[in-house]
Amino acid sequence: MQIIRLYHAGLNLMPTHDAARWNARYRADNEHLDGMRTSFERPRPFLVENSPYLPASGLALDAAMGLGGNAGFLIERGLRVAGVDISDLAVRCAKARLPSLQAVIADLTCFSLPPAAFDLIVNFYYLQRDLWPQYIRALKPGGVLIFETLTQEMMTLRPDIEPVYLLAPGELRKAFAELEIIVYREGWVNPHGKHPRAVASLVARKP
Ligand SMILES: C[S@@+](CC[C@H](N)C(=O)[O-])C[C@H]1O[C@@H](n2cnc3c(N)ncnc32)[C@H](O)[C@@H]1O
Repeated sequence: MQIIRLYHAGLNLMPTHDAARWNARYRADNEHLDGMRTSFERPRPFLVENSPYLPASGLALDAAMGLGGNAGFLIERGLRVAGVDISDLAVRCAKARLPSLQAVIADLTCFSLPPAAFDLIVNFYYLQRDLWPQYIRALKPGGVLIFETLTQEMMTLRPDIEPVYLLAPGELRKAFAELEIIVYREGWVNPHGKHPRAVASLVARKP
């Protein structure tokens, strides 16, 4: 089972803090659910809803893939998928479930994406602003970006979340204004459920 592990500039500089924190979270979820599928193993509803905009074939990047719920959905739809995550545990679980996944353990804070390489980039519940210009460059012309993550509105429910990890109103739309914005919305997902989330969601295409 081949998994690619990338280190910054060839040095063993993986920031073990984030990797360890996410490994612990995935381990705890797994023990808690005793082998049942976690929400991280299912595709995000916004991705499923917007599947008419997915390319029929080609290469997709799932940035901060987690356990591969989105990656699995994309593979089922005929795409080749490269999934990158800092948590080696998450990447190994995803690869075990999805043998054709191009699985990469890497820290996206020191990662370079190749230009014009991807037909699709998905970014769900991960916020690293300096990746955004790379996403635009890394899409092929006609390539699609699907993005959803938490907004500052979330602080009304979770004041403990650091604002730097939350999108400001209109920020996501503005960041990708040079793409053709197909869908954009801000609001609550699952408002009456167990885990309500204030999010901004976007589907955009590179001209
Ligand atoms: C909230 S989860 C989202 C997972 C998946 N995208 C989803 O929607 O289910 C955030 C993911 O970001 C990953 N992550 C955090 N920091 C990272 C970094 N610096 N580089 C790569 N992945 C990172 C974590 O390991 C975790 O899997």
